[in-house]
Amino acid sequence: MTVSYKDLGLVNTRQMFKDAMAGGYAIPAYNFNNMEQLQAIVTACVQTGSPVILQVSKGARQYANATLLRWMARGAVEMMKEIGKPVPLCLHLDHGDSFELCKDCIDNGFSSVMIDGSHLPYEENVALTKKVVDYAHQHDVTVEGELGVLAGIEDEVSAEHHTYTDPAQVEDFVKRTGVDSLAISIGTSHGAYKFKVKPGEKLPELRFDILEEVSKRLPGFPIVLHGSSSVPQWAVKQINEYGGKLEDTAGIPEEQLRKAAKSAVCKINVDSDGRLVMTATIRKIFATKPSEFDPRKYLGPAREELIKMYAEKNENVFGSAGRVK
Ligand code: G3H
Ligand code: 13P
Ligand code: ZN
Repeated sequence: MTVSYKDLGLVNTRQMFKDAMAGGYAIPAYNFNNMEQLQAIVTACVQTGSPVILQVSKGARQYANATLLRWMARGAVEMMKEIGKPVPLCLHLDHGDSFELCKDCIDNGFSSVMIDGSHLPYEENVALTKKVVDYAHQHDVTVEGELGVLAGIEDEVSAEHHTYTDPAQVEDFVKRTGVDSLAISIGTSHGAYKFKVKPGEKLPELRFDILEEVSKRLPGFPIVLHGSSSVPQWAVKQINEYGGKLEDTAGIPEEQLRKAAKSAVCKINVDSDGRLVMTATIRKIFATKPSEFDPRKYLGPAREELIKMYAEKNENVFGSAGRVK
């Protein structure tokens, strides 16, 4: 039996991206794998009136159980009606690595999938992406493809160094695959260690020149940025203050994300920031209230911090707040 996302009250990315492109903002794409993260994302997006993409990686789907996840997304749609004015919710597979995984998600309530063939030779990336698009579009599910490889870990695909997207390839790729959006590599990277900088050292700029060239060749086409956590310094400091061992690190400056959101970038991915904020909050509670052993007493405050963080990003970075009328 297959389950359509439409029966779950979810939407694909088509209208979201059209509106984001016209309005000069980006749709937040937040990863989740547990209840508190999902509650926080939904609460923050309803409070700020922001459309949102709920992202699930292959690993997250295995961790949470695929069936439970589908019902969690359905639950999120119902929960929105109770806490305020519902916002458009998309359930998206992050870094799909095979046709079979994408098909399984499409058949089980996802409204959007990413097929990440970025590490494959170009022609193989085209063929795999097209195969996913052909199946997805039969079900009105939208597809994100990727060209160029980000430094760091791309889910189970690891890449030591960036291979920036070659703007000369983008028109051919989009035309031949039929993808609905394209993730590009312009200097962002996955995980908490994006830039190793000494205090006072300036971070390198993202390659806005590549972004500009890509959008010139694909006018009005939605571009996606992965690896866009900003790595809040207060959270890194708090983790280390309460027994953690993180090295000095920096994320993508909010200013640069703001600039990207105003351009053809319609979707910005954030996972690591949520992990850092959650861990910082829980570590502090474990250290300062050692007799506490009710998970609600540390997961609850972590959820509150997440709500603040997502709302802040929607309002001050992505510009997606207040877009749901
Ligand atoms: O880009 C990858 C996401 O941060 C998901 O990470 O595979 O550890 O769930 P994960
Ligand atoms: P971060 O690791 O920067 O949060 O990136 C997340 C991401 O790109 C998910 O696909
Ligand atoms: Zn990613």
